[in-house]
Amino acid sequence: MIAGIPHATGDKVERVRADFPILATRTSKGKPLVYLDSAATSQKPRSVIDAISHYYEDYNANIHRGVYEIAERATDAYEAARKRAAVFFNAASTDEIIFTRNATESINLVCYTWGFEHLGAGDGILLTRLEHHSNIVPWQLLAAKTGAELRFLELDEQGRVALDDLEQKLQGTKLVAITQVSNTLGTIVPLEQIVPAAHAAGATVLVDGAQAAPHMSVDVQALDVDFYAVSGHKMLAPTGIGILYGKRALLEAMPPFLAGGDMIRRVTYDRTTYNELPWKFEAGTSNIAGGIGLGAAVEYLEGLDMAWVREHEVALTAYALERLAEVPHLTVYGPKRAEERGGVAAFTMGDAHPHDLASILDAEGVCIRAGHHCTMPLHERLGLTATARASFYVYTTFADVDALIEALEKAARIFKL
Ligand code: ALA
Repeated sequence: MIAGIPHATGDKVERVRADFPILATRTSKGKPLVYLDSAATSQKPRSVIDAISHYYEDYNANIHRGVYEIAERATDAYEAARKRAAVFFNAASTDEIIFTRNATESINLVCYTWGFEHLGAGDGILLTRLEHHSNIVPWQLLAAKTGAELRFLELDEQGRVALDDLEQKLQGTKLVAITQVSNTLGTIVPLEQIVPAAHAAGATVLVDGAQAAPHMSVDVQALDVDFYAVSGHKMLAPTGIGILYGKRALLEAMPPFLAGGDMIRRVTYDRTTYNELPWKFEAGTSNIAGGIGLGAAVEYLEGLDMAWVREHEVALTAYALERLAEVPHLTVYGPKRAEERGGVAAFTMGDAHPHDLASILDAEGVCIRAGHHCTMPLHERLGLTATARASFYVYTTFADVDALIEALEKAARIFKL
């Protein structure tokens, strides 16, 4: 235990780990599983797995339609999950929470509804250089069709967002679409400075919260964001369920995204009127089990306390940065201080290819991601084609970080670095 890391963090994390069945498994080579890829997807606690099984075993039925008992139970459970999410993110009302497939779909929903209605030739869309492909490509498609222009906030030498020309870049900007935490560099973006400035300049703000919502307390009203996109599977819930938060007035004024069942009020052969929020944006049968699983995930995170989650990850990240610095020829990218970043560490080691590194680590039971992490433009800017990335979550221990370092030292010997 290094100085400055609270002991309590370690005690609690052992109790947390016991809730995650997969963490007790071993790899086919008999190694304990050291899971350091939570930024790609998180593991799931027993309560989430049970909530999903319970739905399928005991009350599987379609929602918002049946009048029989199990259909009503399914509807109640799904809508209770929405309500829990609304409280968790402090939305002003439950119907500002739209269930989507993931953060990508949430961003596309805004792009194809609000975006195509409000953005035209010459209008600025301001992003940062940190963005994930899912918060670049939709806007490129929109820009190609409408003549809107993409602009970028630059980064300093530590990968932090430079704000010196914010006012200038906001001139003519109609939409600011930015991540809260970079999935590659870990950079925490200063929303508290950007959002008020954007609003003062008349811009609407969409935040990609995929890498923030699982890891820190997010209050959408305090942040005053107009739209906030979340992926459930990165915050202990199953894949295929996500959230779009939007301010009610904006959502009310937006046209539907996908069309079909459930999103309608009345359909004739000639015309259709739409359902009220949030169902206007939820066409077709929803991912019911996913929604219920997301509710259980939120309940689990509430039980942990998001302040503890953040404290735990800052301690882990500080420890990881310190230990990674001991490995010869290893470069970590992103802010130097753990307090300025989320729990991810992207790195390169000499000229070893990150995929080779990841394969060697895999043989030791250590799971990391290698590649461009859906941030090809950012990698290009850093002069890299790929990085290796370790990422942490509520169940990650200091021993996991030690296992990472030991495996990297072994890889360094193999590569004769
Ligand atoms: N965008 C996810 C990641 O960073 C998949 O790994």
